[in-house]
Amino acid sequence: MINSEIELIGLIGNPVKHSKSPLMHNSMFDKLHLKYQYLAFNVCRNDLEKAINGIKALNMKGANITIPHKVDVMKYLDEISDEAIQIGAVNTIVNRDGKLVGYNTDGEGYIRSLVEETNIDLEGKNVMILGAGGAARAIGYTLSKLNIDSIIITNRSIEKAKNLKGILERYISTKTVEIDDINKYIDNVDIIINTTSIGLYPNVDQSLIDKEWIKPNHLVSDIIYNPLVTKLLADASEKGARTHNGLGMFVYQGAIAFEKWTGIFPDIEFMRNTVIDSFRSN
Ligand code: ATR
Repeated sequence: MINSEIELIGLIGNPVKHSKSPLMHNSMFDKLHLKYQYLAFNVCRNDLEKAINGIKALNMKGANITIPHKVDVMKYLDEISDEAIQIGAVNTIVNRDGKLVGYNTDGEGYIRSLVEETNIDLEGKNVMILGAGGAARAIGYTLSKLNIDSIIITNRSIEKAKNLKGILERYISTKTVEIDDINKYIDNVDIIINTTSIGLYPNVDQSLIDKEWIKPNHLVSDIIYNPLVTKLLADASEKGARTHNGLGMFVYQGAIAFEKWTGIFPDIEFMRNTVIDSFRSN
């Protein structure tokens, strides 16, 4: 039963049925004996404004926003963090005394996962980002504020890559390359990050990178976590490169949001294992 003592958090997206966020957050709330409940709401585009107003009307503590509402939601919020404005998308809302504040925890979640799971020192590194959608914008923007050396963006639609370059080059040396030219640049990068849906279940035999281009000194990262080992990561392992999968980004973006709602930074390993266990039982 939900009673008035319980703080409510919503997941607003479409579809939300298969999201692991409710399980991950509710398990953590239970473990910490926090009186919070996380519920998923399937909301279509036409109902987004009403749903966001509902956060206030129902005095909910906050929400996560997922596909396809991360951009549209911005116009219904009272305040948006600088980071989320630059990224152009919000994935977390906090209800601060009736004021809805939007954040984007995807970029920071990704970087924290990358650094903590691989121990990489990002200083002076050259990074290639595959893709220029919402996830690429979050990751690229967060990276551009760090002391890396350069970013190369490649994307099927080169115009989108150029738009992202326009944002990132304010902070970091950035260039765009055509997907067909990846092999000409890949030797000079240290980290390759796939932010596209290429390799995502069920298209598990696809990769944008030819296995022969991968070198042992590359760190290859894929934000996909279904499957945990994409073709890109399997190829990278075979070539002796270090790999990093997308589960950590999912867990950390959730953990950072969790902290914004509750003031407590949660147990990352517990959250990660909760998600892994649920994959196993599926
Ligand atoms: P997200 O929020 O997860 O980043 P998105 O904004 O829809 O999702 O971005 C998806 C990314 O995957 C884009 O870079 C997209 O390329 P386009 O900008 O050209 O659409 C990329 N992508 C999706 N399907 C692709 C495919 N079949 N080949 C190459 N790139 C693809």
